[in-house]
Amino acid sequence: MNELSNFTKELKLSLESNSLIRLILSSPDNKTGNLNKITVRTIEIKNKSALSFLFTYKNKTITKNLNIEESISFIAELFGKSFTDCVLFTTENDFSFRRTKKGKILFKKLKPAHAGCDFSMEHNFKKTKIIKVENNIYLERLAVVKNGRVSDGMSGKFKQINRFIETIGELIEGSELIKQDSMNIVDMGSGKGYLTFAVYDFLINELKKNVSVTGIELREDLVEKCTKIAFECSFENLKFVQGSIESQTVSNCDILIALHACDTATDDAIYKGITSDSEIIVVSPCCHKQIRKQLHITGELKEITKHGILEERMAEMVTDTMRGLILEAYGYKTKIFEYISDEHTHKNLMISAVKTTNKIDKDEILKRLTALKKTFGIEKFYLEELMKSNL
Ligand SMILES: C[S@@+](CC[C@H](N)C(=O)[O-])C[C@H]1O[C@@H](n2cnc3c(N)ncnc32)[C@H](O)[C@@H]1O
Repeated sequence: MNELSNFTKELKLSLESNSLIRLILSSPDNKTGNLNKITVRTIEIKNKSALSFLFTYKNKTITKNLNIEESISFIAELFGKSFTDCVLFTTENDFSFRRTKKGKILFKKLKPAHAGCDFSMEHNFKKTKIIKVENNIYLERLAVVKNGRVSDGMSGKFKQINRFIETIGELIEGSELIKQDSMNIVDMGSGKGYLTFAVYDFLINELKKNVSVTGIELREDLVEKCTKIAFECSFENLKFVQGSIESQTVSNCDILIALHACDTATDDAIYKGITSDSEIIVVSPCCHKQIRKQLHITGELKEITKHGILEERMAEMVTDTMRGLILEAYGYKTKIFEYISDEHTHKNLMISAVKTTNKIDKDEILKRLTALKKTFGIEKFYLEELMKSNL
C-alpha cells in the first residue's frame, strides 16, 4: 500500500467512525497561487453528513461544502498535488502527513490535541462541540439545553455558539494574546448572553486563561437575568452592565465583541475597540440603515438600486467594506467572512480584526475610503466621523 493510500485510509476511517474533528492542508507548493491553506470540518446538511472546506487565500476566504464521497478524492488530490502538509485531527489520534519533494509521504501518529472535548452526535447533527452540554447551567437557563441535550429548535443557536467560540479561539491563537495569562473582554450588546457566557466558559475552562468579561446591554431585564445566571454558575469575573454602547468608557480591553448590535451601534463598538487599543475586535453587523439612506448611485451601478433587496445588500457590502478599511487604516489585519452557514442565521457576516505590527499607510487607505464614498455618493460615514472626532 503506498502512503497516499495510507492517508486516504485514515481519512476514510475517521469519517466512518465520526471521529474527524478537522483537517488542515497547508504549505502549498507554487501551483496554488494565492491559496495558502484549506481547513476542512464535518457539517450536517439536511440530515446528511458533509464536509465544509474553508479556502484561505491571501486576501479572502471562500467556503464550499461537498458530500463525503467526493470530498475524499478531492482531499487526496489536493494533498497529492498541491499541498505538502496535512494534519488530520480526530478524537482518537492526530495524524501528520508530509509529502517530500520526491513524492514520498512521511507519516506521524500523534496524541489527540482535542482529547476531552465533546464531539459526539447530538440531535441528529454532528459537529465540533467546544462548549459542553452536560451540567451546563447557563445553557440550561438560556433554554439552549434541556436535561443535558440540545433543546428542540435550538440546534442552530448551539451551532452558532460553538462556531463563534471556534472563531474566537483561532483569533486568539493567531494574536499576541495567546502569550497572555489574563485578559479583559467586553461584549457590547450582549443581549441574552449566549455568547458572553460561552466566551467566559471557553477561556476559563478550555484555554485556562484568567479572564474578566463584561457584557454591556441596554435592556435592564436582560442584564438582571444574566447577572443571576452568572452567579448560579459561579462565574465570578463575568458581569453584566446596563448601558448603551456609545456611552461606555472602555479602557484596558483586549478583546472587543459586538454581535448583531443594530445599525451604527456596530460602528460605536468598533470605535471603542480601536480607541481602547483592543488587540482583537470582532463584530457581526446587524442592519445597515446609516449608509442605505445616503446611497446615491449614478452610472451603470444604478441598475442595482432598482431592486430593494439588492440595494439593501449593496448598502451592507459598502458599509462593511468601509468598516474594514477603517480598521486597516488604524492598524488591524482585517477579515470579513461568513462565520456560519446562512441556514442558521442570515446575520452571518463577521468582521474580525487583529492588531498588526506591519507598517500601515493610513493616508493611502483613507484615500481609498474617500474614493469609495464618492463612487456611492456617500456624504458621511459614521465610523469615519467618530474616528475624526477622536483626533
Ligand atoms: C440582536 S441582539 C444580539 C445579542 C448578542 N450579541 C448575540 O449575538 O446573541 C442585540 C442586543 O443589543 C442590544 N443593543 C442594541 N443597541 C444597543 C446599544 N446601542 N447599546 C447597548 N446595547 C444595545 C439590544 O438590546 C439587544 O439585546
